[in-house]
Amino acid sequence: MGQAFPHLFEPIKVGSRTLKHRLNFGAHTANMSEGGLPMDRHLGYYSERARGGAAMIVVEPVPPHRTGVLTRGNFRHGDDAVIPHFRRIIDACHEFGTVMIQQIYHVGAHGDWDNSFEANWSPSGLPSMHDSDGSHAVSESQIEELVEGFGQAARRAKEAGFDGCELMAAYNALIEQFWSPFSNRREDRFGGSFEKRMAFSAAVLDRIRKYAGPDFVIGMAISVDPSRPDVLSVADQQEIAAWHDARGLYDYVTIGTGSYFDHTRIIPAFLYEDKMGPPFAEAIRQAVKTVKVQAESHIRTPENADYVIASGQADMVSIVRGQIADPHLANKAREGRATDIRPCISCNQMCWGRRSRDYWISCLINPSAGREFQWGGDRFTPAAKPKRILVVGGGPAGLEAARASTERGHRVTLVEASDKLGGQFRLAGLQPRRAQILDLIAWYEGQLGKLQVEVRLNNPVDADEIKALGADAVVLATGSQPARNGYQRALPTVERLPGVERPNVFAVEDVMGRAARLGQRVLLLDDSGNWRGAGTAWAMAEQGHHVTLLTPDSMVGREILRTGSEFPMRKRLRGVGVDFITDAAVGEWHGDGATILDLLTGKSKWLAFDTLVLATANVSEDSLARSLEGSGLECHAIGDGLSPRHAAAAIYEGRKLGLAL
Ligand SMILES: Cc1cc2nc3c(=O)[nH]c(=O)nc-3n(C[C@H](O)[C@H](O)[C@H](O)COP(=O)(O)O)c2cc1C
Ligand code: SF4
Repeated sequence: MGQAFPHLFEPIKVGSRTLKHRLNFGAHTANMSEGGLPMDRHLGYYSERARGGAAMIVVEPVPPHRTGVLTRGNFRHGDDAVIPHFRRIIDACHEFGTVMIQQIYHVGAHGDWDNSFEANWSPSGLPSMHDSDGSHAVSESQIEELVEGFGQAARRAKEAGFDGCELMAAYNALIEQFWSPFSNRREDRFGGSFEKRMAFSAAVLDRIRKYAGPDFVIGMAISVDPSRPDVLSVADQQEIAAWHDARGLYDYVTIGTGSYFDHTRIIPAFLYEDKMGPPFAEAIRQAVKTVKVQAESHIRTPENADYVIASGQADMVSIVRGQIADPHLANKAREGRATDIRPCISCNQMCWGRRSRDYWISCLINPSAGREFQWGGDRFTPAAKPKRILVVGGGPAGLEAARASTERGHRVTLVEASDKLGGQFRLAGLQPRRAQILDLIAWYEGQLGKLQVEVRLNNPVDADEIKALGADAVVLATGSQPARNGYQRALPTVERLPGVERPNVFAVEDVMGRAARLGQRVLLLDDSGNWRGAGTAWAMAEQGHHVTLLTPDSMVGREILRTGSEFPMRKRLRGVGVDFITDAAVGEWHGDGATILDLLTGKSKWLAFDTLVLATANVSEDSLARSLEGSGLECHAIGDGLSPRHAAAAIYEGRKLGLAL
């Protein structure tokens, strides 16, 4: 059999190094340092992806200067103490033939005072796009301080054993701020003409070469955001790349999407199309002669990646979230096992969703991300004593518990009351643009099949049947149910929404499960602030209903905010005619309308609706757990059956239990 994805798995020379193939793990802030040092969490995280076959890993950025500190988990800037700790990680990854690069970033005006406790330094003192702060226009001596900071960071990287470094100029970071006439309004030797605007990056690159030597690989990360008039255009970026290329200043350039001016395209969620970066990579590739060009942004799959290389859009690709979700993506693709790749669902919930809250990153579908040092990655140690395990419920918690415990050598039977696996996660997968969730459920089905888990669909069980099945341990992954009482957090003492028993009231689960008879005018009470409400509103609007989404929050999609997708989500909803009512609660349902309570003024008004749909908190389906109490059976409740939460909690608990049984 020929090589799977033959274009992707061709070696390539980048500067002084030869990459074993062209599928890389690009830069991202994993935010995992302890006391500013890369410790065991980092070691486990990166070495698992090196083991999994990534050709080049760009380790998360180090700030080159005190004014560049951006996150709580950033590495220490300006301190050689990082060197031995990085060496441990690099040695471990080099074992697998992975080329190791350190990203160096300084976001200039868009810093975070709450973490750096320093004024943001920028070329011309423009405001931050991160918060309400302004920035300080640097003097020439301060520019020299920054240039030296970059040089010293590269020297440290070289001493730690890194093969090279990557400068982040993307998303309107400091280097791009010097490049762009929008943010560089200087009139000294660092601003004005095109050449002068290039002077800062040229000085930084010269200093890095001086300290790290000619064989140190140097990359440059840039981005393109054609939706914005205030960032550099594709033509500008072509000219800049060609200028640096002609002077031999770096070895590769990597092209992402979005900018701090529109953050939502930097890490595009499922709302955006696949392969967002490659067209821009192709444009840059046409402009340069020597440097290698890497495409990034929503490339997701080896099929996409192979296409990007085969069609000549880029020399290499980076897949970040795909390899957070499955650290062994590269090897699986290379070995013809692409169907075994656990597919990232582009949800951003536990990667960017945790980074944006300044926690270390993980993954909704792969909870071992960031826990490799404790859980051993997605590789399993056989159980000391194989057991017969019964998993009750085929939602995400049950699927993961069944998979992980079978991988460890247990014999597992999974019983599911309905005719399908996936539980409520499947309903989420039926919302617009969320079919990647269905792909994930199909992956579970495939994996359980390969592992020979006995899956019994249409098989509700009661306590006596469970006892009769005689398992050594029972996993109760029974999920949750709509509470159907219309309880709203904004009205904590009102236990039942007045009128909730009147006609035309449904839960989002009824709507997505096609069990609701919806009228034309639908009021969706969104007490969740996440995709349960927003995605269901979108689905109903696409079916032609006129939907009004009401939330107690000041914005629609409060919990989606952390994933960097709330703005495009609201755009989509408004685009299909969904109306929003914020800072409000439902005072009463009348069967043909609702009393709406304005939380800001305390005033009420009546509005006509045909249907009320509730996206309110669910209740655990824990009746089996209660009936089995005191039965002597070893029972473990996980996921929503224990307490209704996000799917991330369900999969996490499924894995954790699977590792413990
Ligand atoms: C949690 C997270 C943090 C990121 N931090 C950085 C960063 O520090 N520097 C950078 O250049 N890109 C960063 N990125 C962007 C990625 O390099 C990449 O461009 C983006 O995730 C889109 O690629 P993907 O679809 O393959 O994930 C980050 C991405 C994620 C998910
Ligand atoms: S949290 Fe979601 S987007 Fe991020 S890597 Fe995991 S599946 Fe992909």
